[in-house]
Amino acid sequence: MTPTDMLGFDPSDPGFLRDPYTRYRELRESDALLRTRGGLLVATTHELCSAVLRDARFGHGAPADGEPPRSFLLMNPPDHTRLRGLVSRAFTPGMIRRLRPRIEAITAGLLDALPDEADLMSAFAYPLPVMVISEMLGVPPEDHERFRGWSETLARSLDPIVPPDLISRTEHDREEFRAYFRRLIALRRERPGDDLLSALAQVEELTEQELLGTCVLLLVAGHETTVNLIGNGVLNLVRHGVLGRAADAPQQVVEEVLRYDPPVQLTMRVALEDVELAGTAVPAGSAVLALVGAANRDPAAFADPDRFDVERTPGRHLAFGLGIHFCLGAPLARLEGEIALRALAQAAPKLELADPAPPYKGNLVLRGLATLPVRLNGRA
Ligand code: HEM
Repeated sequence: MTPTDMLGFDPSDPGFLRDPYTRYRELRESDALLRTRGGLLVATTHELCSAVLRDARFGHGAPADGEPPRSFLLMNPPDHTRLRGLVSRAFTPGMIRRLRPRIEAITAGLLDALPDEADLMSAFAYPLPVMVISEMLGVPPEDHERFRGWSETLARSLDPIVPPDLISRTEHDREEFRAYFRRLIALRRERPGDDLLSALAQVEELTEQELLGTCVLLLVAGHETTVNLIGNGVLNLVRHGVLGRAADAPQQVVEEVLRYDPPVQLTMRVALEDVELAGTAVPAGSAVLALVGAANRDPAAFADPDRFDVERTPGRHLAFGLGIHFCLGAPLARLEGEIALRALAQAAPKLELADPAPPYKGNLVLRGLATLPVRLNGRA
């Protein structure tokens, strides 16, 4: 079976990677709930994606035999509720707000070091969120490089279709990751610091496995998502000639980037019981894909949805999901995106793309650029 049979689109097609939204529109216009040739149900509208994400009758299937312990991203209530509650105690919006000066300082340092011609992904978009989440968790800077490969493998393993060679690599990298954190947790238990890992390690109700799963989840989420908010943001702002708006109204700009070109394009659920959805009988165990990238371009939810309009009043985009799994890191991602885009627009208002069509990474769930070559054309 080809990816198109399975999903309704071909994620490895270069045309699709450049612009998945034309294909999404065709899918949405053909039906709100599609059944692909492979039998997968795909929700393509804002209303239906929202309904699936909010509906307690949809969740995650039971782990396969021998599967390593999961993070709470893939758990159902009551385990999800308990774990998310415990982690939220340490990961509060107030704590995120207090990070602002530090995120600004990291951003300024990266911008100062940026040469006039640079790959903005490797020199700015990637290191910023990585440094922030690593510092938050208390991971020493000399170890950041080791995470890069592990995190990239785990991010790819989120995709519904995973090449066979990746499966064994995923297991290997996940184990390395966990072994690393096991050592770090032991150190922080002995000598707690002023970091999130120390705070989580003090939460007695968290088992070792749960703590490890949470650390890996936060690290991967911190490595693989905000980087694409920044990259997709710069690309769209420069293409549409509105980078300057990021200097004046960065929060509004960030919301439009999240809507128009979301870093997380889709998410999966399984029917936990027999459900009727948009007039279709969905038997227990059926997989449903919520196509966030299509929902965010639904004309029923957003006027003139294919226009990148940074003046738009922010609406109810689904870039951070909805319902009980709504992104726990959303306040952090928004703050990082806002600080990064504003600082870049202020420092390099004449920035140009050196490659008008920069290449994408081939991930299916996560949409982001492999490189983003730019010329700063001097500094303000
Ligand atoms: C622009 C950046 C980000 C985007 C677009 C994003 C998107 C999402 C989405 C769509 C979900 C829901 C997935 C689902 O329902 O299946 C989610 C969940 C989550 N995100 Fe994010 N995320 C971002 C940044 C972050 C950051 C920086 C962190 C933390 C360091 C983070 C931590 C989490 C966690 C812990 C969950 C699981 C929540 C749960 O299952 O209850 N995210 N994110």
